[in-house]
Amino acid sequence: MNTTPPVIAIDGPVGSGKGTISRILARTLGWHLLDSGALYRLVALRMIQEKVSVDDSSTMVDIATIMDISFANTAKEQKIFLDSVDVTLDLRTEECGSVASKIASRPALRAALLKRQRAFLRLPGLVADGRDIGSVVFPDALFKIFLTASPEERASRRYKQLKQKGINVSLPDVLQKITQRDKRDVNRKVAPLKAASDAQIFDSTGAAPEDTADKILDSLKILGIPSAN
Ligand code: CDP
Repeated sequence: MNTTPPVIAIDGPVGSGKGTISRILARTLGWHLLDSGALYRLVALRMIQEKVSVDDSSTMVDIATIMDISFANTAKEQKIFLDSVDVTLDLRTEECGSVASKIASRPALRAALLKRQRAFLRLPGLVADGRDIGSVVFPDALFKIFLTASPEERASRRYKQLKQKGINVSLPDVLQKITQRDKRDVNRKVAPLKAASDAQIFDSTGAAPEDTADKILDSLKILGIPSAN
């Protein structure tokens, strides 16, 4: 009998709705959740705090290996702790996202975080979102989704999210920063952002997250995923 827990892999660029949709799916299915970007952001945050250079591969690998992290999921949001300190807000700044994307091009860091990501796999199943979940982290995922949306809509979503969290930004600046970050993520040599060859593409432009999540749940029903309603 195959007891490997099933995985739903959701990859896509900044602001495509991965995080929100993953949370809805995990809640609806009663599965675990992995926000893989948070792991890259946690290493980035520690490096910013300790003024470690983005070129210092060995220190970033040490941080990735020993950092003490925990996640608390509520119906509305996910809280993230680094050494028992709530860093949820600190992680969301575009400075942290940008350092995360710079260090994410380092193969040694990706290897260190690969183990930590795979450790999230538990029964009854895992919904994981990121850039290389379907291609590298869980290549045998049961269902792979590549989520997209127009650049303008993605920028406007990210702008609203940051404003809601009290982070002061302008829309043109957000558009410029996320375009830069996507370009870096798409063009890097290791595990670049791209749709896995067997991923289904969902475009969330103009759609509420609940609607996109419903479409995905309909596809899951066809696969016979039992708790999908
Ligand atoms: O939420 P958002 O789309 O802004 O980004 P994130 O998922 O928090 O990821 C932050 C950065 O980490 C990305 O821009 C990627 O460079 C990197 N990342 C990655 O390389 N691989 C992953 N599986 C997840 C994130």
